[in-house]
Amino acid sequence: MTMQVDINSKLKLNNGIEIPRLGLGTYNITRKKDVDRAIHSALEAGYRLIDTAAAYYNEREIGEAIKSSTVTREEIFITTKLDNSDHGYKSTFRAFEQSLSRLDTDYVDLYLIHWPISRRRNESWKAMEELLEKGKCKAIGVSNYMINHLEDLKKNSSVLPAVNQIEFNPFVFEREVKEYCQNLGVAVEAYTPIARGRKFKHQDIKRLSDKYGKTEAQVMLRWGIQHNVIVIPKSSSPERIKENADIFNFNISDEDMGVMNSLDEDLRYSPDPHNYD
Ligand SMILES: NC(=O)c1ccc[n+]([C@@H]2O[C@H](COP(=O)([O-])OP(=O)(O)OC[C@H]3O[C@@H](n4cnc5c(N)ncnc54)[C@H](OP(=O)(O)O)[C@@H]3O)[C@@H](O)[C@H]2O)c1
Repeated sequence: MTMQVDINSKLKLNNGIEIPRLGLGTYNITRKKDVDRAIHSALEAGYRLIDTAAAYYNEREIGEAIKSSTVTREEIFITTKLDNSDHGYKSTFRAFEQSLSRLDTDYVDLYLIHWPISRRRNESWKAMEELLEKGKCKAIGVSNYMINHLEDLKKNSSVLPAVNQIEFNPFVFEREVKEYCQNLGVAVEAYTPIARGRKFKHQDIKRLSDKYGKTEAQVMLRWGIQHNVIVIPKSSSPERIKENADIFNFNISDEDMGVMNSLDEDLRYSPDPHNYD
């Protein structure tokens, strides 16, 4: 199946807000000059989504880099996340205001619960529903939510998450969670979408890279795009940031998608959220 998407393509979320299909991950980019370079290169390459989190300790630098760019705030989709230590009704409001202040903006596009911390996550969600209602965030969502966490949230709240950000690449292919979310109208966002670059020597990835004349990273990102997920590769190198955006001019065949779908080995670089109550 040929899929017509380009770097300006967006997915419509379940509350009508649109999210870009490609974003820049920023985990581990903290020094001001590295953040400036990464954000400016990404905006120049056409990225319009920046993914951060309170836990990445770079919100302030990201806010400054956006301010010093030539792209306006309104054109940029900023995602940030509630830290595990800030769960709870009141502390969610406090943590959110601190993120806003560090980012030096008056709204975020998407606010996510970073991890499904048991007991307190539904109180945090209640606060996030109120932030949404007040217009402080354009959309709210979750991260690392598996089906049990989503079922629990559905039972205890009135707003469905717009997004679930999960570890997702051919080597950790969360097919069931992806299908569950997509059937529910929850957009899936893939983190660690190129498996941190550590599976580029895999024979099928190498073969497909040669076949399509694209790099291993591009083949893995394109696989995500064709699964209709949002991909947020991290790079601090201007060349690789550009390379990771050059994924809209080829199409992986159904047969090769099948090959990539069969590579799952539950390879994770983050804790396994299936183990969270
Ligand atoms: N919600 C969560 O719990 C969660 C967890 C983890 C990550 N995330 C988010 O998802 C983003 C992406 O995930 P990730 O950072 O874990 O992993 P990733 O994007 O799969 O891989 C990043 C690594 O790959 C390298 N790289 C990037 N492009 C490359 C290319 N074209 N060729 C070769 N190497 C390349 C980067 O190095 P260079 O910088 O040197 O290019 C970096 O070491 C994060 O930055 C963060 O925003 C969310």
